[in-house]
Amino acid sequence: MRVLVTGGLGFIGSHTVVSLISNGYDVVIVDDLSNSKLSVLDRLETICGKSIDFEQINLLDYNSLDQVFFKYAIDFVIHFAAFKAVGESQEKPLEYYQNNLVSLINVLNCMRKHSVFKIVFSSSACVYGTPDSCPIPETADIRPQNVYGRTKAVCESILQDTSAAISEFSVALLRYFNPIGAHESGLIGEDPNGIPNNLMPYITQVAAGKRELLTVYGNDYPTPDGTGVRDYIHVCDLADGHVAVLKKLENNTGVFIYNLGCGRGYSVLEVIHAFEEVNHVNVNYAIGPRRSGDSAVCFSNPAKANKELGWYAKHDIKDMCRDSWRWECYARDHEV
Ligand code: WQD
Repeated sequence: MRVLVTGGLGFIGSHTVVSLISNGYDVVIVDDLSNSKLSVLDRLETICGKSIDFEQINLLDYNSLDQVFFKYAIDFVIHFAAFKAVGESQEKPLEYYQNNLVSLINVLNCMRKHSVFKIVFSSSACVYGTPDSCPIPETADIRPQNVYGRTKAVCESILQDTSAAISEFSVALLRYFNPIGAHESGLIGEDPNGIPNNLMPYITQVAAGKRELLTVYGNDYPTPDGTGVRDYIHVCDLADGHVAVLKKLENNTGVFIYNLGCGRGYSVLEVIHAFEEVNHVNVNYAIGPRRSGDSAVCFSNPAKANKELGWYAKHDIKDMCRDSWRWECYARDHEV
């Protein structure tokens, strides 16, 4: 079985490629390298011990994507490719709507033309906005509070409407919570362009001396230590969740929605202290003001994925911290 992985050289996409290949799938990666590097492909081939088909195209170019579907016999699509910076999405809404929606529509039109009807979509906990309560089930209200989250919610609607109108389409919507960590080899990991938006890459860059100080965005939240609480999930567990849902799509039609998280939260300070303890390093931080748009607490109820997919997150916060650091050290030592 061959899986077309869009955005397959990105953080979650690359780790999913490893899981797919180790589970016997053939993979074709499509990526425009706008937020990833071609060197990731070499390191993926080292991890997997085989060459991996790659096509550098922009998904806004329908004809180029159409040629990929002609060239390869594709059975499934996993669609990661999207712009994903929350802050940037607020500044560039038109770019985000055009890129994230049109690329999906092009993928779906190519799939329909080539009779490929099974797709896994990379969604986000962002679609829930600020939850009324935690843990968050898949039935929680969809009320995204930023442009990025709204593009994901609209894409989910596009997929649900397509499946309702064209019964052959089988769709899995995976709502990720906070993916961190890296493959145990240390050869791939989160590699944000410029100043990291997210907590873990900021922590690793401060620990590595690439940045002076981590600002903790607020310690006056209604949480045990006052700092924000999130559901961190190891990126390799997330990757395995994609393989688990492919097996569901192989034998079922319709729309399947799953939260992929650990089902528990850690505060910013808990993550910092776990990182320092397991890696024997110091992370310089200072408490600053809250970040606009942040909620106090957000973590998942992953029971549906546990039950229906037989999928469970296996890594704990120490694994995530250890593996994130191993990747940061590799990236620093090899000038990735
Ligand atoms: C986590 C916690 C911050 C940076 C975002 C996206 C979401 C998903 C995951 C794509 C919060 C605090 C952070 C820093 C800090 N991405 N923090 N100092 O905001 O929960 O989710 O990334 O799907 O869509 O919204 O993750 O890592 O930015 O923040 O104190 O320098 O760390 O306030 O409490 P977030 P994050």
